[in-house]
Amino acid sequence: MVICLGIEATAHTFSVGIANSEGKILANSRDMYKPEKGGIKPSEAGEHHSSLAAGLIESALKEAKLSAKDIDIVAFSQGPGIPQCLRIGAAVARALSLKLKKPLVGVNHAVAHVEIGKLATGCIDPLVLYVSGGNTQILACIEGSYRILGETQDIALGNCLDQFARELGIPHPGGPKIEELASKGKWIELPYVVKGMDVSFSGILAEAVRLLKNGAKKEDLAFSMQETCFSMLTEVTERALAHAGKKEILLVGGVAANKRFRKMLDIMAEERSAKTFLVPIEYATDCGANIAWTGLLVWKGSGETKLQESKINRFWRADEVNVTWL
Ligand code: ATP
Ligand code: FE2
Repeated sequence: MVICLGIEATAHTFSVGIANSEGKILANSRDMYKPEKGGIKPSEAGEHHSSLAAGLIESALKEAKLSAKDIDIVAFSQGPGIPQCLRIGAAVARALSLKLKKPLVGVNHAVAHVEIGKLATGCIDPLVLYVSGGNTQILACIEGSYRILGETQDIALGNCLDQFARELGIPHPGGPKIEELASKGKWIELPYVVKGMDVSFSGILAEAVRLLKNGAKKEDLAFSMQETCFSMLTEVTERALAHAGKKEILLVGGVAANKRFRKMLDIMAEERSAKTFLVPIEYATDCGANIAWTGLLVWKGSGETKLQESKINRFWRADEVNVTWL
């Protein structure tokens, strides 16, 4: 059995997870940087991560009832993400790997969300709908590698909801509060922007903000934004499902917590005899367990990441990953 310690540091969360090669998660310690106001300030997030790294490694080992010498592999999120955050994770992982004399493995953050989702839900070959604060993508494994079938052409859906919430004075993350407001709202027409299997949210956000300033009710705008954006994504997911010939849909990322969104996707899936799978909350958001488990897969398929290849890659897309484990 192989044991991997994984470090996640792509954005607001610094987390250390430990997994074994039998698919058991032994620890998942984490801490999230919360800006006092506004969005993430990269230098503050980096400061947060570097000050907590050692403590979180210790608490993960304690949670797993292991000592440092039991670790066989050190994995880290190599990208995509905020450079100031990625660099801290990479530096901590390199130092730990050198100190323990154990192989280092760089992991793609998006692929890690997908692989932990498969592990946690038991789905095998899903179409993946990854909808978070920083990402909106439809992925599938086709002929041995992940392909991005559709994505946002501008901002991510979570970011769109968060930005609208900020206009209403709701602190980050605004998604859950928007869901609450939406339950009391009525329909207002907003732009519906689908191009093939791609979507776009910035026009919807701009129009919603404009209508808000003209006196529209926040509940109605919250409701209409949800209905419009979720319908768009349900439409492109259905198209991608048919295109890729898959029968499973894996929902990944914080926006999948939204009940109205899940309802729309469930109805569509049922009509297509497909099944939806939701990643349990513990592994749905950014965490070290995702990186530890995927680190084991990458190591099994491709071996270690040499020190000179361990530079962070802030724009690393899932379709650029060499998938050697499937
Ligand atoms: P990544 O780095 O992978 O892009 P992230 O940290 O930005 O991830 P997650 O933690 O996966 O994102 O998700 C956070 C996002 O999910 C926020 O934008 C938040 O507003 C949104 N969200 C959370 N709950 C809900 C909800 N009930 N409805 C809609 N959006 C939600
Ligand atoms: Fe993430």
